[in-house]
Amino acid sequence: MTTRRIQLTVNGAVQEADVPVRQHLADFLRGSLNLTGTHLGCEHGVCGACTVLLDGQAVRACLMLAVQAQGMTVTTVEGLSPATGPLGALQDAFCTHHALQCGFCTPGLLTTLTEFLAQVPDPTDEEIRIAISGNTCRCTGYDSIVAATLDAAARLRAA
Ligand code: FES
Ligand code: FES
Repeated sequence: MTTRRIQLTVNGAVQEADVPVRQHLADFLRGSLNLTGTHLGCEHGVCGACTVLLDGQAVRACLMLAVQAQGMTVTTVEGLSPATGPLGALQDAFCTHHALQCGFCTPGLLTTLTEFLAQVPDPTDEEIRIAISGNTCRCTGYDSIVAATLDAAARLRAA
């Protein structure tokens, strides 16, 4: 098995590891770093459950190799709020509006919406629905997710 040594920053901490060249980023995050908040659903780029932020941009961690993240900054759902203390506005709004049921889609939605709200601080209902159109949720019907996102956007604007 061919491996390569990579160094990257994950949730603020520098990580260095020898990784198989064919290992995808999601398996590296989950298996080597124990960051199991990044979920794997379809494993071919459709469901969005594996979405993480790569240098601030939402990407499918099942569609890229760990070696491609060399030198980059990765944020997983575990890195969206401080390890101790209150949740960030988006996660707190998800709790307030019951925007999750089984929670399998939630990490991917949170990372996707984190990037979206950074770019679109005052979104419409429709803009939010388009932004999460690549994230499959089989439980909620999406209305509570949209309500939570609108609430989080208002909280972030007021902060
Ligand atoms: Fe990556 Fe579904 S697991 S998009
Ligand atoms: Fe179950 Fe979205 S809350 S898939």
